[in-house]
Formats: sequence, C-alpha cells, structure tokens
Amino acid sequence: MSNQVKGVIAGAKGKAVSVETIVVPNPGPGEALIKVQACGVCHTDLHYREGAITDEFPFLLGHEAAGIVEQVGDGVTNVEPGDFVIIAWRAPCGNCRSCLRGRPWYCFDSGNASQPMTLADGSPLSPALGIGAFAELTLVHAGQAVKVNPEASAAAAGLVGCGVMAGLGAAVNTGGVSRGDSVAVFGCGGVGDAAIAGARLAGAHTIIGVDIDERKLEWAKEFGATHTINATQADAVEAIRELTGGNGVDVAIEAVGNPVTYEQAFYARDHAGVVVMVGVPDPQMRIELPMIEIFGRGGALKSSWYGDCLPTRDFPMFIDLYMQGRLDLDRFVSETIALDDVEEAFHKMERGEVLRSVVML
Ligand SMILES: NC(=O)c1ccc[n+]([C@@H]2O[C@H](COP(=O)([O-])OP(=O)(O)OC[C@H]3O[C@@H](n4cnc5c(N)ncnc54)[C@H](O)[C@@H]3O)[C@@H](O)[C@H]2O)c1
Ligand SMILES: [Zn+2]
Ligand SMILES: [Zn+2]
Repeated sequence: MSNQVKGVIAGAKGKAVSVETIVVPNPGPGEALIKVQACGVCHTDLHYREGAITDEFPFLLGHEAAGIVEQVGDGVTNVEPGDFVIIAWRAPCGNCRSCLRGRPWYCFDSGNASQPMTLADGSPLSPALGIGAFAELTLVHAGQAVKVNPEASAAAAGLVGCGVMAGLGAAVNTGGVSRGDSVAVFGCGGVGDAAIAGARLAGAHTIIGVDIDERKLEWAKEFGATHTINATQADAVEAIRELTGGNGVDVAIEAVGNPVTYEQAFYARDHAGVVVMVGVPDPQMRIELPMIEIFGRGGALKSSWYGDCLPTRDFPMFIDLYMQGRLDLDRFVSETIALDDVEEAFHKMERGEVLRSVVML
C-alpha cells in the first residue's frame, strides 16, 4: 500500500524546484509514516538544489519538520499513531563504533527509511538528509521520530529538527559554553541566532553577534546578543578584543561556512579558547594559518555536526524550555508559506530577508 501526495522536488542542478505528485509507501518494519504539519526552509535545502551536496537528483527537499505519526511498521515501539514528533536527521543505531563507545551524537550508522519514496513514474527520490518533509506525508526510520510536548507550535518545533538545534548545540554541546563565558557568533542567520540563544541559556555574560547585514544584527540582539559588530564597518577581531578587555572570547562560533569568518573566529578567541565551526563550507574553500598560532593559542578547534545533538535528549528539553518561555522559538519563524512558495523562499533567504520561512501543510 502506498499514498500519493504533493512534494517539493529539485529535479536538476540549479533548476527551480517544483511541486510534484510523489508516492510514499506505508511503513515497513522499523519505519514510521509522518503527516508533516510544518517544515522550515534551511540553507542546506538550497545547497541540495545547487548540487553542492551530492548529484543524486531528483531530491525531495525539506528536513526541518514536525508532524503527527500517521502509521508505524512492525516492531516500532518508540512512537505510535497520533504522537506529535520532530523529525531528526540522526537516529543513533546503538551498534556502530561510536555508539558502542557511548558517543551516540556522532553515530556513524544513523538510520533512515529502507523503502524509497518515488515520483509517480516510479523513479526513486533522494530525501534531503534522509527526511524529505516538504510533502504532506514522509516515510522515515522510526528512530528519526522524536516525541515532544504536543502543545508546542508545529512551526516552531520543526525548526529544532535542524538549524535551531545546530546553533543551540554548537554553543551548548560542542562549545561547552557555561556561566560567565564570553562568546562571539559569526553570522547571525537562523543558525547563528540559535547559537546566541544557546549561549544566553548557558549563562554567557558577554555575547557578541557579528554580521555584515544590519537587519541581522538587530535580530541578534533580540536573541540575546549583548553587543553586535557590523564586519563591513569595523575589524571584527579588533572590536571583539576591545569588548573583552583585550583578551578575546572564550568561545568563538563560526556560523557562515566561510574562510574569512573562520579566520576571524580563530584570532578573536582568548588563549585556550574554543573555536566551533557550525557553518558548512563549499568543498573548494581553503584556509591557511601559521602552525605556531594553532599551537601557541592552545584550546580547541572543533566542528559541530548537527550541534552534536542527541535528539531524544535535546529535542524534548528545548521544547520544554520553549513552553516555559525561556527559549523564543517563535521568533525564528519569519513567515509561514505554502508548498508552492519554496522557490521564492530561497530567494528571500539569499536576500537576507528572513530567518526562517516555514511551510505549513
Ligand atoms: N553544522 C550543521 O549541522 C548545520 C546545520 C544546519 C545549517 N548549517 C550551516 O550553517 C550555516 C548558516 O545557516 P543559516 O541557515 O543560519 O544561513 P543564513 O543564510 O540564514 O545565515 C548566514 C548569515 O551569515 C551572514 N554572513 C555572510 N557573510 C558574512 C561575513 N563575511 N561576515 C559575517 N556574517 C556574514 C549573513 O548575512 C547571514 O546573516 C550554513 O552554512 C548552513 O549550511 C550547519
Ligand atoms: Zn551508531
Ligand atoms: Zn537544515
């Protein structure tokens, strides 16, 4: 048995996306069929459309989603029909070398649905990040469906499935920001602002937002930036030193995916500080640093995959903080749109007009 629904397809490199009829199978063993309620438009969807991730077109885009479990396959015990869930792109397997060492947030064998979703003519789709949620229904590994408080707004909850989790986790999990720390965040888009919100939650006392767009800096203050720097008007590294008694920050978070901002993050941190790279660079980008500076400055240079999150631990916790009014997830939702509007939402993202456009289904 299968279902025919509408979904947003990237058919070829660089080509505008289109809404097509897709075929979504009913869940087999270990799978869950999700009725998608909301799905945010993330920069990574645009990377897929541009062929910057793989060339396995056609893609079924969308991966920041929340919805209701419609049906589950044999053997599924973690969710049941009617549950409100956020879809995760990491479902730790429990058996890989990382899970077995007690580090499931790096799981190297994360699960996805085994049956393919297809176009109406039967050609298989590559779901973005193993999700594919710009669609009325999507099929995932049941472990990707994470139950959270059903009173949360679907638009806000869905964002925790990718960009917001990446930013929060970059600060809280990867960067280990704690009380009294100083933090700088380079790039105040959805991911960077979530890093700012995470730094505030963790008790950072100085939080510096850096961007090249004045609108983004204003929004960064709403999430908790205590200071902002427009990198087109000031030397970001110098300005950060001035704001931190000449020392630099304890944690510098790069949320653009660019060698210029990475280098700024590297030099803007205090001795023994941490650099966290959560922005995703293009494959051809290069960076050159004096080795003596890497050694001499000490500390750690880290990458943050998905905010080093453990979805079953972190999603319900951040939704609870949201419900308590301690984390303003609604503020990330710049607009709600229909499935047909995803291409236009990419252009708004490129023009810097939105933090997140969220497709409502
Ligand atoms: N590591 C992960 O797991 C993960 C998850 C989701 C997204 N990402 C990546 O995070 C990055 C940010 O995503 P987003 O959705 O926030 O994107 P976005 O486009 O909304 O935000 C990027 C921000 O960077 C700013 N910027 C650009 N050039 C700059 C510069 N030279 N100096 C300072 N600021 C500059 C832009 O003005 C914008 O505000 C992307 O690379 C995305 O692919 C990573
Ligand atoms: Zn694993
Ligand atoms: Zn994403």
